[in-house]
Amino acid sequence: MSLLLQAGTIGGVTLKNRIVMPPMCMYHAEHDGHPNPFHLLHYGSKALGGVGLIIVEATAIESRGRISENDLGIWEDAHIPTHRTLTSICHDNGAKIALQLAHAGRKCECSSEIPVAPSAIAFSPEAPYRIPTALALEEIEEIKGSFVRAALRAKDAGYDMVEIHGAHGYLLCEFLSPLSNRRNDRYGGTFENRCRLLLEVTEAVKVAINLPVIVRISAEEWMEEGWNIEDSIALSKALKTAGADIIHVSAGGNQPLTQTQPPFVPLYQADYAKRIRNEGSIPTIAVGLITTPAEGEALLMGGVCDFVAYGRSLLRNPNLALAAAKEFHESDKIPASFRRGF
Ligand SMILES: Cc1cc2nc3c(=O)[nH]c(=O)nc-3n(C[C@H](O)[C@H](O)[C@H](O)COP(=O)(O)O)c2cc1C
Repeated sequence: MSLLLQAGTIGGVTLKNRIVMPPMCMYHAEHDGHPNPFHLLHYGSKALGGVGLIIVEATAIESRGRISENDLGIWEDAHIPTHRTLTSICHDNGAKIALQLAHAGRKCECSSEIPVAPSAIAFSPEAPYRIPTALALEEIEEIKGSFVRAALRAKDAGYDMVEIHGAHGYLLCEFLSPLSNRRNDRYGGTFENRCRLLLEVTEAVKVAINLPVIVRISAEEWMEEGWNIEDSIALSKALKTAGADIIHVSAGGNQPLTQTQPPFVPLYQADYAKRIRNEGSIPTIAVGLITTPAEGEALLMGGVCDFVAYGRSLLRNPNLALAAAKEFHESDKIPASFRRGF
């Protein structure tokens, strides 16, 4: 039997297979941040196509935490009913669903908002990026509270788990890197201080919701003196203690694309997932140019990861999991109504 199609658990919640849809912003929300018919069709079709876990795109915990004005939001209680419609359609079609809780930090592109960050350093001198306001300690406390309130709303809306967005140069990731965090208080300077906010958010969210918590990190920023895989392994051990159930291992995004960025070749991030799993002793989700069921199967067989995320591949083929069932001769995993089509 294929490993990819075998059930697996994250923090005690069972997924019917190891296929994960990673978060991908679709920029289809109105400025109010509510899921709308587009999101129901978009995510519902991936549930129908057999994905084990859908992680909904970066969803802002504060309105100034949006990347763009068309991102989803969960910054107020009014968002709960529309998210509940989304979780219901995915559950009704057999998938588990997680919400990615996000704060864009200095990468906020909304002209109506003032970007904030650990330090007043712009992501890039080019528009749409601006010099962010450095957060005061009281504001950091407020942001922690916003993550917790957003997680509680996600639970109320029926999400099976949440993912904390600690990757790609957004707020929590900005705190990790010595290149974007130049603070000299308890949230900056040493490695421990730079990790503090992500660890505190993880612990507070876990305690508040008592659901599985995924933490997404960028394992490398590929810059001299920047955040690297050794840092990520040490952080992952601390995240496990703080309550993370699994690490979703991505890379990059804290710097504009530079010459130090390696080429995007198939499986280019997989080795980071393997090292974090083995040396950090925590389950991992691998992601990044994994395109075929056979590749995912090989990663699981090789002990690289516990789950496999297919991003753009699922945009191209929402029925990827059903195609895997056909490829691996497990037609019992294809609903009868689909069998003639496969
Ligand atoms: C259109 C698009 C939007 C994305 N939005 C998010 C996001 O909201 N949150 C996030 O953590 N990563 C985001 N990503 C990164 C993906 O989750 C994934 O890591 C990346 O696409 C690599 O996987 P793939 O090669 O299988 O597509 C996005 C990627 C794409 C292509």
